[in-house]
Amino acid sequence: MDFIVALDNRETPLHKQLYDEVRSAILAGRLGPGQRVPSTREMAKSLGVSRTTVTLSYDELLSEGYLEAVVGSGTFVCKELPEELLRTPSPKSPASESRKVTSPRKALSEYGSRLKPMPAPFRDPEGQHEINFVYGVPDLTIFPIQQWSRLLSRHCRAAHSDALSYVSDNLGYLPLRQAIATYLARSRAVRCSPEQVFIVNGAQQALDLIARVLLDKGDRVALEEPGYPGARLLFQAHGAHIHPIRVDSQGLQTSALSTLPDGVKLVYITPSHQFPLGVSLALARRLELLAWAEAHQALIIEDDYDSEYRYAARPNPALQGLDRAGSVIYVGTFSKVMYPGLRIAYMAVPPDLADVLSRAKWLADRQSPMLEQYALADFIESGWLERHIRRMRLMYGSRRDALVAALGEHFGDRASILGDSAGMHLIARLATGLADEEVVKRAAKAGVELGTSRRCYFGAGQDAEFIFGFAALNERQIREGVSRISRATLA
Ligand SMILES: Cc1ncc(COP(=O)(O)O)c(C=O)c1O
Repeated sequence: MDFIVALDNRETPLHKQLYDEVRSAILAGRLGPGQRVPSTREMAKSLGVSRTTVTLSYDELLSEGYLEAVVGSGTFVCKELPEELLRTPSPKSPASESRKVTSPRKALSEYGSRLKPMPAPFRDPEGQHEINFVYGVPDLTIFPIQQWSRLLSRHCRAAHSDALSYVSDNLGYLPLRQAIATYLARSRAVRCSPEQVFIVNGAQQALDLIARVLLDKGDRVALEEPGYPGARLLFQAHGAHIHPIRVDSQGLQTSALSTLPDGVKLVYITPSHQFPLGVSLALARRLELLAWAEAHQALIIEDDYDSEYRYAARPNPALQGLDRAGSVIYVGTFSKVMYPGLRIAYMAVPPDLADVLSRAKWLADRQSPMLEQYALADFIESGWLERHIRRMRLMYGSRRDALVAALGEHFGDRASILGDSAGMHLIARLATGLADEEVVKRAAKAGVELGTSRRCYFGAGQDAEFIFGFAALNERQIREGVSRISRATLA
């Protein structure tokens, strides 16, 4: 035998070790094409293993085309090994170890290619710094986890087969959809039947399914500028042509709708609490948008992601409740009122879209996890959700007040604040005279994580515009954070 076989790894079965050794010897050229390999008997003897072990490895190598058996002559390395196998360097050869191993480039789909230049979507919501103003996560420490775990374990113990298996109705657990329809009617003036309510894995999946069933490459989508990047990037990934419409103090500038080219299929909008500027869409504009959508046979996606948190007045009723033409797909999420890791959100869809969306959901992931849906139905029915929301609204309201006061105290008229009447964040334009990156860097050095609104813009962003998430910080942290930022940037 002119290659050495060492079977010395106790964790891997012997036949697998022998298979790996022979295969590596072939790939590295130590066993050349056409070369005879020892018979099973010879190999077993020289290694001190059973013949069955050797037969098992040889059978595998024969079936994969590394070896060929010639009746009456023995077993040989295949003469015609696939070329790409021969180019694979041996992991044991020191010469090849220094070579860069490159696998043949996989051809990406158009969708995949469009993702490549996009910014990495992930960030660490925990942040790396002591005080984290980065937007998006509620205060998880006040979530009634004991009550929630009781509900979950009750359904877990009951082990309903529907909660543990595939379900026939993949729009979601009907009692949950009923509870959501009632909640939406009461708190958001949304008009829908439980049959129109559709459970999805996060608002992000709602947007993805909508895009899948409605958009072809090159289709036109209008959205707010600035706006939610998670939506814009998703529509871009689907190949949509983006038409940004500016937002002012009354929300989307609906006067710009008449300047859009024909054929806009979708308008994505956050009318209750515009992301990120925080304004609410004025009633006259709501009516104008609905009339435009009806006249142009466009659909509106109303993303009502955090409308529960309005501090001064009652939350504005949803746009969907004003719609008479079936133009609005309403999207809501439990990420902000429960916790984002739950990944349960919902859409209220026009009846004619329910069937196609249910098919798209089936192909995407069949159905959303059921156990949490059972527990959530109880959580809503028993009043826990609304109690929790009331508690958070009070708490976040005080945190918002603390933030506004701290910005006033430390920045004075160098800070102008937008969108502080609702939600979990506000925008502060800070006149520090420094570049944005420098402000972020200095804040980080002082132990404070702060983000700009730049990634919310499709076009050129606005300088010195910072998003202050305040929901997950207590008042002391908020005051301390603003004080540190001011010391680091105004000195
Ligand atoms: C405007 C907006 N829509 C939707 C979402 C995300 O919702 P989900 O966690 O349900 O995917 C966010 C999250 O930050 C958001 O800001």
